[in-house]
Amino acid sequence: MKKMAVFAVILALFVALAGCGGKSSDQSSESGDNNKKIIVGTDAAFAPFEYMDKGKIVGFDVDLLDAVMKEADIKYELKNTGWDPLFAALQNGKEVDMGVSGITIDDKRKQTYDFSIPYFESIQMILVKENSPVKNALDLKGKMIGVQNGTTGQAAVEKLFGAENKNIKKFENTVVAIMDLLNGGVEAVVTDNGVANEYVKNNPDKKLKTIEDPTNFQPEFYGFMFPKGSDLKPKIDEALKKVIDSGKYTEIYQKWFGKEPNLDNLLK
Ligand code: ARG
Repeated sequence: MKKMAVFAVILALFVALAGCGGKSSDQSSESGDNNKKIIVGTDAAFAPFEYMDKGKIVGFDVDLLDAVMKEADIKYELKNTGWDPLFAALQNGKEVDMGVSGITIDDKRKQTYDFSIPYFESIQMILVKENSPVKNALDLKGKMIGVQNGTTGQAAVEKLFGAENKNIKKFENTVVAIMDLLNGGVEAVVTDNGVANEYVKNNPDKKLKTIEDPTNFQPEFYGFMFPKGSDLKPKIDEALKKVIDSGKYTEIYQKWFGKEPNLDNLLK
């Protein structure tokens, strides 16, 4: 009997240790009884949608993804791949099965990837120092503008000032773009409103402000992104719809944004 107890303790230790293994930025969910675990990629430098907190990827997208995967009964692992590598991986469809990263559904991307139904409405916003004279997007002409490479922020600025413009500085992620603004490398950062607002709210000491410009920036909608032709898309769409209809989406939205989502805009 004593031997059994010792064995049980050793076994429990083993299980506990195995649970601690692996890269700290990868997260698994044990929900679902399908055996195949799908790999979801993200760029976890985009608070409040996805960011690292005490070694874990957290955020609105992460909570929504978890709710959708539970609803769809699919096991998954969330990986912090970074932004550009995520697009490359989803294009060859080998390392990653799905991208969840505040990704805007746009016509250009639709040529190469499939998207879920929209799950979040967004728009570009300008982030500048508190004492900046900039009032709208056109005031950025001739100023150094920081964007995250390969984002709709970059596209929006290029649309206004031309793709060849030397004043557009492209960064690997949005956090480093904002660092450069603080260091005076760029005079403004153009990024998604949710991210710009979150940064200003969480860092009052940095003395930044946000500027809206609905004349020069158009509404965007986020979707989950898949390799073209992925059979995940219909399953995820169905589950996402259920999560929205059940009120679970509203609950997650309220947790992260402290207000009610506009579901009419989303579902139209
Ligand atoms: N919504 C923008 C886009 O699709 C920016 C998304 C950036 N997301 C991120 N996790 N860095 O281009």
